[in-house]
Amino acid sequence: MDASLSASFLKKNRFFFNYFCMLNSASISLRCSEGSSEVKNAKDLDRRNSVIDIKARKGGPPLVCLTAYTKPMAQWLDPYMDLLLVGDSLAMVVYGLETTRGVTLDVMINHGSAVMRGSKRACVVVDLPHGTYENSPAQAFSSAKRVLDETGAQAVKLEGGAEIADIVRYLTDKNIPVLGHIGLLPQKAESRGGYKIQGRDGEGWKQLMNDGLAIADAGAFAIVIEGTVEVLAREITESIDVPTIGIGASPSCDGQILVSDDALGLFSDFTPSFVKRYAELGEDVASAARAYAKDVRSRDFPGLEHCFGAPKNK
Ligand code: KIV
Repeated sequence: MDASLSASFLKKNRFFFNYFCMLNSASISLRCSEGSSEVKNAKDLDRRNSVIDIKARKGGPPLVCLTAYTKPMAQWLDPYMDLLLVGDSLAMVVYGLETTRGVTLDVMINHGSAVMRGSKRACVVVDLPHGTYENSPAQAFSSAKRVLDETGAQAVKLEGGAEIADIVRYLTDKNIPVLGHIGLLPQKAESRGGYKIQGRDGEGWKQLMNDGLAIADAGAFAIVIEGTVEVLAREITESIDVPTIGIGASPSCDGQILVSDDALGLFSDFTPSFVKRYAELGEDVASAARAYAKDVRSRDFPGLEHCFGAPKNK
C-alpha cells in the first residue's frame, strides 16, 4: 500500500483503527452483542472511560453526554453516559444567576468532586469558569491543575477558538486533557450581543471552521460545538480528527450533549429550541410537594410507622 493509499484507508477506517488501539492499549472488554458493533452503556464497562476512550470514538457510535452537578444526579446518569460534564451552566440552573459567568473555581471544584463521588464509569470533565484561564497559559495551568488534583476528574473544558489555541496547546503539552468548546460561547455571550447562532455568514463560517481546526491542532481530545448551522457543524466534524460533541449543532457530530436540567424538565425559566425534553421532573417534584403538604395539613403524615417508640398502626 503506498503512503497516500494507506492515509486514505486509515481515514476511512479511523473509528475501527482507533477502537482497536483503545481495546489493545487498555485491555478492556466491551460486551458487544453478537454480530453488532453497538457500544454498550457505560455500566457494561468495568472501569471509568478515559479521555483516550472518548477520543477513540471518532467516527464511531455517538458519544452520549449530559451535564451533572451533584452526586445523586451523577449516580442516576452515570450508567448511561460516556461523559458527564460539570458545566458552568450550573451558575444558571443550580444557582439562579443570569449568566454562566458568576461561578468561581472553588464552586466548580466542589461540584466536580461531588460528581466524581457519584460516578464510576463516565469520563468526568469540569468547566474552567470565566476569568480563570484566559489571561495566560500559566493562569490556565494553575486553574486546570487545581481542578484535576482536587476533584480527580479526567479533563477540563475551556470555551474559545483560535484565540485560546496557545493556551490549549500549553495545557495539553503539560498532559492536561482539554475538551474544547467552540461556536456559541455562553461565557462570552454578553460581549457578543447575546445567545446568537454562530457561523451563519461567510466570515463567521470561516472563523468557526478555523476555530475547530485550531483547537483540534492544539491537542484537545474532543470539541463541543454549540449553536451553529447544521452544515457547518457537519463540515467541522468531517475536517478534524477528534470527536465533535454537538449541542444545537448537527446529528452528524460524533456525540451529543444537553444540559440535564433542560432535558429532564427541571429548569423551567426557558428552554432553548435545540433541547428535547425527556421528562418533566419539575412537575413530578411539584406534585410530590403538593401531596406532602396535604398529608401534613391533614395530619396523615407522619403515621405512627414513621415515629420512634410509638405503637404501630394496625
Ligand atoms: O456549561 C455547560 O453546561 C456547557 C454545555 C452547554 C456544553 O458548556
